[in-house]
Amino acid sequence: MTVTTEMPTAPLMEVRDVAVHFGGVKAVDGISMKLEPGAIYGVLGPNGSGKSTLLGAMTRLTPMTRGAFVFEGTDYTRKPARAVHRMGIARTFQTVRLLEDRSVRDNVLLGVDAVGRSQRKEAAAQVSDVLERLGILEIEALRPDELSYGMQRRVEFARAIISRPRLLLLDEPTAGMNSAEREEIGGLMRQLLAEGITQFIVEHDVQMMVDTCDRLYAMNFGKLIAEGTPTEVVRHPAVQEAYLGKGAGQHA
Ligand SMILES: Nc1ncnc2c1ncn2[C@@H]1O[C@H](COP(=O)(O)OP(=O)(O)OP(=O)(O)O)[C@@H](O)[C@H]1O
Ligand SMILES: [Mg+2]
Repeated sequence: MTVTTEMPTAPLMEVRDVAVHFGGVKAVDGISMKLEPGAIYGVLGPNGSGKSTLLGAMTRLTPMTRGAFVFEGTDYTRKPARAVHRMGIARTFQTVRLLEDRSVRDNVLLGVDAVGRSQRKEAAAQVSDVLERLGILEIEALRPDELSYGMQRRVEFARAIISRPRLLLLDEPTAGMNSAEREEIGGLMRQLLAEGITQFIVEHDVQMMVDTCDRLYAMNFGKLIAEGTPTEVVRHPAVQEAYLGKGAGQHA
């Protein structure tokens, strides 16, 4: 008789007591998280609560004050940002960062840089597919300054997924988009999830987060104030107070 033992699933990503202080500003102040593979995680929080700083630290672009990051069992706390990208963590930025004098296709190809040399050809061959998925194949020869803001965001998204990351960090991916475009991006996130890309999203649009995410975190003043299912987090008194109550009017 054979006995099958289920392997406990290791977390994809562990954030251990991470802090990022800018002088006296405790932008991130002791955050711990465990992200399991195969889910979409969302982070809510008022302006200035430390969401983007956390993403910056997770990608090692923003120097941290203390704490550790472990991805697929590897502690990468002291690795440079480029190495973290190569490990399989990609991101988009809150403010679009594209090379202005390069075409849409060239900008997306920059993301290929993150994959190992042996897989680069393969990744490059998929550029047209990725451009098509994001609805930007027809505009591949244009430069970013010829595109609407929503289209620029799609180019960033394409650049992030071309390397086939295992963890994708998205900082307000639908900012500046209309509701139809938001739904489209939400659909794309679910599709990417089905393809094995775990996602960690910062967004102010609460409805979209509830519809799209499997689990939510809420931050305020650099700390986690709630975590759980989207419904639990949105109803949490601390979240109501911090994010949905007095701060609701100030979000774009
Ligand atoms: N490079 C920096 N130097 C100094 N202070 C910074 C720096 N980056 C962020 N901060 C401060 O850290 C705090 C958190 O900022 P952060 O951008 O992470 O917030 P956020 O939650 O992403 O806000 P938003 O929703 O407006 O994007 C703010 O008080 C901000 O002013
Ligand atoms: Mg931000």
